[in-house]
Amino acid sequence: MTPVSSGESAEDRVTVRLGPRSYDIVLGRSMTARFGLFVRELLSQSQAALLVADEHTRKLAEPLTVPLEEAGFRTMLAVIPAGEQSKSLEQLAQLYDVLYELKADRRTPVIAVGGGVVGDLAGFAAATYNRGLPLIMVPTSLLAMVDSSVGGKTAINHPRGKNLIGAFHQPKGVWIDTDHLATLPVREYRSGLAEVIKYGVIRDPGLFETLERHALALRTGRASILPSIIARCCRIKAEVVEQDEYEETGLRAILNYGHTFGHAFEIVGAADHWLHGEAVAAGMMCAVRLAQRIGYLEDDSLLARQEQLLQAFELPIRPLPHWDVEALLAAMQRDKKATAGRLRFILPRCLGEVGLVDHVSLAEVRQVLCERRAAS
Ligand code: GLY
Repeated sequence: MTPVSSGESAEDRVTVRLGPRSYDIVLGRSMTARFGLFVRELLSQSQAALLVADEHTRKLAEPLTVPLEEAGFRTMLAVIPAGEQSKSLEQLAQLYDVLYELKADRRTPVIAVGGGVVGDLAGFAAATYNRGLPLIMVPTSLLAMVDSSVGGKTAINHPRGKNLIGAFHQPKGVWIDTDHLATLPVREYRSGLAEVIKYGVIRDPGLFETLERHALALRTGRASILPSIIARCCRIKAEVVEQDEYEETGLRAILNYGHTFGHAFEIVGAADHWLHGEAVAAGMMCAVRLAQRIGYLEDDSLLARQEQLLQAFELPIRPLPHWDVEALLAAMQRDKKATAGRLRFILPRCLGEVGLVDHVSLAEVRQVLCERRAAS
């Protein structure tokens, strides 16, 4: 990570090294005025730009049109309804219509201003319209800053499965202005902290310890250390993506720690409206309990430390007792990461080290899911 000085404020820059598809993640505060220059330096020939936001992030996207126009871009802003249901073929088709109206050509950037839903939908539109347009990510939620805006995964949902229709399409640049977090509801912010904890467990004991030390300040989002924590997560994500861009070697799969359980909680518990990070939090606890049960976990203290940290951020540590265990197991077997119905989990060995385990019996997973009844 190279701190670069620009005008009055300092920015951090994390480079994702992917040969011709390399790009920078620029991270700082109060950066709106410099956004036009950032995009212009990436795309010297473009004349137009499409910003995509949802109803909540529209107020963050509108101010970005000013520096873009000053930098010579004719801009349009498409606003989609907030929420996962916008990752649909219908919303995608509407974005294609807007791109057509804008007379978008192969140099026209799609600029996604928002959380994971906006990034996934706008990213997939960019991946597919006119056989591919440049994509700029402006993540405004903590979760999108540390995870979904980096790495090139774009997707919409199929009625039978989340993210089933998608493409790898790396952005040309990622612009993280931590001022954008000020408008984020606290529950969403804490949900993002689950993914931050994830990075500590899978790869970075030092990050995990920093989170433990600053838990009180981080709970409210007021910790001055937050920008450097976000940059550290981006660096880890970049390192993983650089080594396994297309999720072929198994390394990138470590980013899915807690997600096999978590996705099942999101599906079966849809009526309870857990946020993604909340499902991942409870999923990470199920994963560590499963690791302990099958004798994979070498350092038992991780279980208590992870639980304490999640609780400090008021994140759930168990699935809800009324969720049907057999429905959860069925959802896990349908997960696109399961091979031929065989469950695969990223499980921890110790703090900073996880592995892919695919020899777990259904009975053991059932036990972990049932434990919650005894304990709750
Ligand atoms: N969010 C997991 C990945 O990007 O691979």
